[in-house]
Amino acid sequence: MKKTHKPILVASVGIGLLLSSCDNDKFPEKEIVVKDNVSFALDIQPILTLECATCHNPSEAEPDLREGFAYESLMNLEEGAIVPGNAEGSELVEMLEWAEGVDNPMPTAGRMSPLKIALIKKWIDEGARNN
Ligand code: HEC
Repeated sequence: MKKTHKPILVASVGIGLLLSSCDNDKFPEKEIVVKDNVSFALDIQPILTLECATCHNPSEAEPDLREGFAYESLMNLEEGAIVPGNAEGSELVEMLEWAEGVDNPMPTAGRMSPLKIALIKKWIDEGARNN
């Protein structure tokens, strides 16, 4: 009978370690592989429509991120918000990553999925084109 306790203990310690190793705030960004040629219309706008335009529309908050308006709104953000070709240097990315010290992390309710953030970063790295 005693024998049976050991594996259970080992298993529960293992699960505990597994859980605690997941219990950190870091995104496994490096593991996310995003396709090349991200499309603003097909890949980015749907994210903005779903995650942002509920608030970012003329009756609530600027910039207007609805389909048909978002690209121009994003290009008109203050300098440094989006640096084409340089996602890491773009303040919008810091907002989306909820980076420490950011005044307005977006979306306000919580970080988007790492894949959505990775797509937006790739789009910026590829030149933030209206493609
Ligand atoms: C629940 C509502 C809500 C959602 C969802 C939301 N925002 Fe916002 N956002 C706001 C509000 C309100 C402000 C104005 C904040 C302020 O001025 O203090 C704002 C401000 C901003 C600004 C301007 C920040 C500045 O410093 O001037 C940007 C850019 C922005 N949001 C981008 C986004 C993006 C991109 C998304 C989706 C990924 C998003 N937001 C989702 C409510 C929202």
